[in-house]
Amino acid sequence: MNVPTMIRRILLFAFFFLFVGTSAFAQNQELEMIVNADQGETTISRHIYGHFAEHLGEDIYGGFWIQDDNGNWQYNQQVIDALKEVNVPNVRWPGGCFADYYHWQDGIGPRDERPAQLNTIWGGVTEDNSFGTHEFMGLIDRLDTEPIIVGNVGSGTVEEMNDWWKYLNHAGPSPMADLRAENGREEPWGVKYFGVGNESWGCGGQMRPQYYADLYKRFAEYLRPMSGTEPYQIAAGPSGDNYEWTRTMMEEAGWMIDGLDLHHYTVVGTWEDKGSATDFTEAEWHTAMQDTRFMDELLTRHSNIMDQYDPEKETALIVGEWGMWHDPMPGTEPGFLKQQNTLRDAVVAASMLNVFNQHAERVRMANLAQTVNVLQAMLLYEDGQLVKTPTYHVFDLYQGHMDATLLSMDVDRGTYTHDGESTPAISVSASKDDQDRVHITLANKDPNQPRTISVDLRGQDVSSVSGRVLTADQMNTHNTFEQPNRLQPTSFDGAELDGTTLTIEMPSKSVVALELQ
Ligand code: AHR
Repeated sequence: MNVPTMIRRILLFAFFFLFVGTSAFAQNQELEMIVNADQGETTISRHIYGHFAEHLGEDIYGGFWIQDDNGNWQYNQQVIDALKEVNVPNVRWPGGCFADYYHWQDGIGPRDERPAQLNTIWGGVTEDNSFGTHEFMGLIDRLDTEPIIVGNVGSGTVEEMNDWWKYLNHAGPSPMADLRAENGREEPWGVKYFGVGNESWGCGGQMRPQYYADLYKRFAEYLRPMSGTEPYQIAAGPSGDNYEWTRTMMEEAGWMIDGLDLHHYTVVGTWEDKGSATDFTEAEWHTAMQDTRFMDELLTRHSNIMDQYDPEKETALIVGEWGMWHDPMPGTEPGFLKQQNTLRDAVVAASMLNVFNQHAERVRMANLAQTVNVLQAMLLYEDGQLVKTPTYHVFDLYQGHMDATLLSMDVDRGTYTHDGESTPAISVSASKDDQDRVHITLANKDPNQPRTISVDLRGQDVSSVSGRVLTADQMNTHNTFEQPNRLQPTSFDGAELDGTTLTIEMPSKSVVALELQ
């Protein structure tokens, strides 16, 4: 080796030791956790793993509802099959903002006689109303899931909403039950989850909370128990940290609200310039991770306010819209909100779901926005091809938590620091199902460093651990129509059980789901 080469190598070694090696020592902390497997009380409602399908872009038309070669509308079987694999517990419809523009009677009766409307809120496209109440309920049957219908307060009337309620739920004879039968459905559907408007502070009518609280009571009053269906009434909740909204709603109308519907999106940049879904820096990754902590703050603070009015926690806090909102995919109609979905979206989804689980006592429903082709979609569909996004795979990994019992934990989350800003590195939740299997889901938000986690499992003897992991080399790895399986869960061999101690080697930027029995 000549002298300049030797010097180069020494300098390289010194550089590595100083800047890479030491930061590795500083950040690759060994973390400790305790899981109390015999001390769970609260059920993690399966409805936390819920979904949302709006008449927006290619979610309904071109997603769930597609045309055959002759132009006839039909259900998209590929979408239905994929969603059934992850046991979707509910679907919220028809919006979103669209709900406060929608007149349900346009979407019943013979399809070729339904009036066309303009979807003025999303892209100014023609809404042909070929997907209406019967088609939505047909989708619900095929998915074997629970419907959540959102009624129109912003541009509708009490009578219109009340008629929809009767059309859905009255056994008859009655004008609405007879009309339903004329349209091919004799039996009532028994839809209990009903939203009284959407985002009434914004696209749902730009209302003050005091005004909406009064309107809510007026509309909700007429959603009465009907032919054996007990209504579950959902009020438009706050936008993000609008605590005043929550306080006013609980004070003025809390006793009439079954679920208060908070909406919060993860926007990395500004609303005008949100940033690319696929082309982002580590700083933008870090900001997204910080938002998962903000969700915890939102749920804590809104719950604290609700506790003051409702200590028994009878009213649920719902997160009816959540997910990452990026700039639209280049070349697509901006009003269609179509975006790609990378490992970053998956780690955010995993962390958010862990946060919801931890708040399961108050948070009993949540809906990812949205299901197909829109925002943080579960599925992308185009011309007969389907892609399962990284976010879809997170919902698959987390299935064990649905209706399981939340376990208490003592957790050292470590820190992930970037540019002097720190956020917890590890997100985790644990539950026990009705067959005594313990489920632990974790996300390592640090894109650079793995973490070793030592878990002391108390209160239950287990003899085996198995798991799956979702990870990749690059922060922006994603699935495309050309490469649909680039990112999918694989079997995880980084967990070892020694008596009651479980050691987990969490790769950087990863999601892991473990099952112990
Ligand atoms: O999910 C897209 C839109 O975001 C919804 O229509 C609206 O409720 C929210 O502002």
